[in-house]
Amino acid sequence: MINLVVKDLKKNFGGLHVLKGVSFEINGPELIGLIGPNGAGKTTLTNVLDGAIKPNSGTVYLGGNRIDQLQPFEVARHGLGRTFQVTRSFRRMTVLENLMVPALALDQGLSRSEIDDKAMEVLEFLTVEHLRNEYAKSLSGGQQKLLELGRLLMLNPDVIILDEPFAGVHPKLMEIIYKYIERVNNDGTAIILISHQMDSIFSLCKRLLVLNYGDLIADGTPDVVKNDPTVIEAYLGSDDEED
Ligand SMILES: Nc1ncnc2c1ncn2[C@@H]1O[C@H](COP(=O)(O)OP(=O)(O)OP(=O)(O)O)[C@@H](O)[C@H]1O
Ligand SMILES: [Mg+2]
Repeated sequence: MINLVVKDLKKNFGGLHVLKGVSFEINGPELIGLIGPNGAGKTTLTNVLDGAIKPNSGTVYLGGNRIDQLQPFEVARHGLGRTFQVTRSFRRMTVLENLMVPALALDQGLSRSEIDDKAMEVLEFLTVEHLRNEYAKSLSGGQQKLLELGRLLMLNPDVIILDEPFAGVHPKLMEIIYKYIERVNNDGTAIILISHQMDSIFSLCKRLLVLNYGDLIADGTPDVVKNDPTVIEAYLGSDDEED
């Protein structure tokens, strides 16, 4: 059973308190929206959860194992993966090679040909088999996002954090990403979806976390969160603002 326990996470950059004691739990394959204004700390929280940066204090446990002091590749081995708001890929490698690298690096006991087969499965899942021999540097911004989503699947994660997967993506690819989220979640992976696109958040997520300049000000169903006066004041506004 998937169990992520985040307790009292604090992160400062110099005098800037970006996470001021964030606590929440995920139990099972939930699909959770993480929302909050620009600069609220969403990406910083993601960076702490995946091991890219260390918190000043607080703990993160995944499946009973403490992960807040681990490196990202160790966190990935424990079953947590993430995508980046600004995509990252091995630009001089092909799409297929990009998918294979993390699986080879983390050594999950699969043979080279099993990894190869799995990479093809992932490309089919994303309906982009035709891109397999393209260099990553030649992909569009949206295709880069798909590549990152594919890379996550190579590691069979229990929990994935998607940092703005829809931002700047062509509507056709957006549909693929939308389906990816639904299917991967149905297959048993917990997902934290960070997005400023409220339509997508409200239609996909059954639970929302609202981060407001370092404080988690709400954690509940979309209906409850939408009507929470603190959230309305801090973020959502009285009408349906979107960007
Ligand atoms: N490495 C860093 N050094 C100093 N300040 C940082 C660093 N990373 C983030 N910050 C600051 O922390 C705050 C939170 O940034 P963060 O990127 O986590 O917000 P966010 O909620 O992801 O915003 P957005 O919706 O714009 O992506 C911002 O004020 C940002 O400038
Ligand atoms: Mg961000």
